Amino acid sequence: MTKQFPLEFLWGSATAAHQVEGNNIHSDFWLMENLEGSIFQEPSKEAVDHYNRYREDIELMAKLGLNSYRFSIEWARIEPEEGQFNQKAIDHYRDVLLACREFNLIPLVTLHHFTSPVWLISAGGWESEETPQRFARYCEKVMTELGEYIPYVCTINEANISIGITKIIKRHQAQETAQVGINTDSMAKMQTYYMALGKAFGLHPQQVHSFLGARTEKGLQVIFQAHEAARQVIRSVSPQTQVGITMSLYDIQALPGGEEHAQRALEEEFLQFLPYFQEDDFFGVQNYTRYIYGPDGYIPPAEDAEKTQMGNEYYPEALAGAVRTVYKHLQKPIIVTENGVATSDDQRRVEFIDRALAGLHQCIADGIPVKGYMHWSFLDNFEWQLGYSRTFGLVAVDRSTQARLIKPSAAHLGEIAKGNALLGQ
Ligand code: BGC
Repeated sequence: MTKQFPLEFLWGSATAAHQVEGNNIHSDFWLMENLEGSIFQEPSKEAVDHYNRYREDIELMAKLGLNSYRFSIEWARIEPEEGQFNQKAIDHYRDVLLACREFNLIPLVTLHHFTSPVWLISAGGWESEETPQRFARYCEKVMTELGEYIPYVCTINEANISIGITKIIKRHQAQETAQVGINTDSMAKMQTYYMALGKAFGLHPQQVHSFLGARTEKGLQVIFQAHEAARQVIRSVSPQTQVGITMSLYDIQALPGGEEHAQRALEEEFLQFLPYFQEDDFFGVQNYTRYIYGPDGYIPPAEDAEKTQMGNEYYPEALAGAVRTVYKHLQKPIIVTENGVATSDDQRRVEFIDRALAGLHQCIADGIPVKGYMHWSFLDNFEWQLGYSRTFGLVAVDRSTQARLIKPSAAHLGEIAKGNALLGQ
């Protein structure tokens, strides 16, 4: 049977400024990538030149059949020095929004997607109590200038990401120590990098609080208070814009005896933050895989389980699991703001999309108000510390010419969006 999605459903793909635009020179990541001894596999450089090629990229999305586009506005471009707003950058993003309008794509704008201006980090970054007001001031400027073109805004991308990062670091450390003991060579390299890091931001290395890192309790509050402060100013300067936040959510599953561990993980990654979302208009779910808990805690995927380039279990059904969990605890409209797979085999992406969407369709049939699906990502892009080595894109990029190469999965998602693909047959 053909599975129909609601007529007004948002079908899109997502990008983030730093990962695609190129030359984001006033951002903390640019600085960190280019330090001597950097822990980044490679610097982002000109990325995939989306800053200049946004128009042809948006046109391509529309041609494929998509009706929406999620992208982020770069704080470091808008406010490269504290309190000094760059009109050219604001005008650039107005042009991007106008291109969306011209090609009939509904924009979902993210105001913070991991990167921050260098000055913010030097002023205490994501542990400073002043950051919520600083963030709100930037949001107010953007929304005053551009709000009329922005129907949906996500304040902060994956506000809870530090929790997942801390877990992954702990698991890796435990594995490494068990296998090879402590590697003094890599420790020395890290030491050099941290010294350079502190120097670059004019701080003690331990005071450098970029967004992607371990977070104290206070730091977590700073992030969610920044969301609330942003929501308040957005409501006052652009009342017609729908406001939400996005969170990184695993599909948390329990084997018999693992229920308590699973419940604790859910508390930590999601439930503890519920009070901050009560006044939001929608909630952005970002999901890539599942985590399974047994009586002794987290159980890694089986050796022979299919893994993605990120080392995650290939498990598209996780999306529906995460959506159902969210709705059980928060009865708000949901937009899937990210879901996808890092793979060099595009047929696996096609299957991933079909299976993830079959689950999502069932969620809607069961009465969960899912309003849209943004596939991560439109383009193969800069995957943070891992550089350009991971391919999440519907469209590949030859970075020597910046030519776009459409993969079958892009056409496939476009057909589903147009209502032509026979999902579930
Ligand atoms: C982030 C993206 C990232 C993707 C794949 C999400 O955590 O929002 O920036 O590229 O996952 O790892």
